[in-house]
Amino acid sequence: MSHLSGKRVLLGVTGGIAAYKSAILIRYLREAGADVHVVMTASARAFIGTLTLQALSGHPVHEDLMDPAQEAAMGHIQLARWADLVLVAPATANFMARLAHGLADDLLSALCLATTAPIALAPAMNREMWRNPVTQQNKALLESRGMLFWGPGEGAQACGESGPGRLLEAEQLARRVQDWFAPGDLRGVGVLLTAGPTREPLDPVRFLGNRSSGKMGYALATALAEAGAEVCLVSGPVSLDCPAGISRVMVETAMEMYDAVMERVVDCALFVAAAAVADYRPASVSAQKLKKKEHEVEISLVPNPDILAEVAALPHPPFTVGFAAETERLEEYAETKRRAKGIDMIAANLVDAPEGGFERDENALTLLWEGGHERFPLAPKSLLAPQLAARIAEHFHAKVTAEDS
Ligand code: PMT
Repeated sequence: MSHLSGKRVLLGVTGGIAAYKSAILIRYLREAGADVHVVMTASARAFIGTLTLQALSGHPVHEDLMDPAQEAAMGHIQLARWADLVLVAPATANFMARLAHGLADDLLSALCLATTAPIALAPAMNREMWRNPVTQQNKALLESRGMLFWGPGEGAQACGESGPGRLLEAEQLARRVQDWFAPGDLRGVGVLLTAGPTREPLDPVRFLGNRSSGKMGYALATALAEAGAEVCLVSGPVSLDCPAGISRVMVETAMEMYDAVMERVVDCALFVAAAAVADYRPASVSAQKLKKKEHEVEISLVPNPDILAEVAALPHPPFTVGFAAETERLEEYAETKRRAKGIDMIAANLVDAPEGGFERDENALTLLWEGGHERFPLAPKSLLAPQLAARIAEHFHAKVTAEDS
């Protein structure tokens, strides 16, 4: 079942050239399962036909506050109560100003005053109109009353100029609606995730490795896929099966993991590093099995690239989540790591704890981000992972929303 199934969206359309996008938006919302009623202002009708929006929404379009026939069918108060969400797209500068000052002289503005549902505005206007201090003050006023602003985007405008003021694309708006109703939803989001250990060979039979079983990373990959993400798992050597619906690339060494990640990172919006990657590898690998010596042997090590830090340092990095495996001062060391690597979030775990960490079926985690943290007490990794995935999704969407606005 879709996340918008049964959700009631009241779409307000005001008069701007971008009104044509509302037709496509209605189609996306209905395909996702929403019930959509459309309210058009008089000037919106100059840009797009009532019949078009009626056919797409499957309901008569609501136009007039003073129309006795419409009021007898579903009046403005009923409509205001019906909605789970009111979305005005496009929202003109004029409409924002009228809303900011409480005017109720047409159906849409009256509805916005009468509803207790959340109101989201998707502005669309010329860049100077958007930048004008009056519009910005109106925006601040509306935001202070809890109204949501989705966009505007930047780019070429109908007037021939370029800058902020474009209506977000219908697909982006439909996603905002989905995210608003289901913040943990990662439908269609590309996720790249590393899991398991790496093995750094010394010779054909020996390697430097670690105790990671891959259980935590695989559980998180599964939870992210269940939240709708398209997950690619880059896995070190483990004895786990590839979870259903996930594509998997098996690697052995840190350098192979690095290459596999860098090749695929452009396709992902979210990167999660759950792998226990060797920080060093032997400076040389013997082609033949090393012979036992009677004296002490020294192994020279060279550093491996820090995959997570390099992903975070890309010019357009995905949302980045790391793990921190610590044996003491968990949150302090993890936060230092988060800042040093320049990543969005880090999940810290004590790996020498008797009940959690490496190899075990259970774990306890503290998730840290800029200015906040949340503790997840000891639980099976399979139960911990969906909670972690939901929290990651929330922060991911919040960042994407902030970047779009
Ligand atoms: O696999 P399990 O047995 O279920 O155990 C789970 C786990 C303990 C391995 C997992 O929860 C975990 O903590 N994974 C990260 C282990 C680790 O290497 O932590 P670190 O603190 O050394 O590294 C910090 C972060 O940098 C990690 O996200 C790591 O993937 C990343 N890193 C480290 C070194 C490197 N060269 N490249 C990296 O990307």
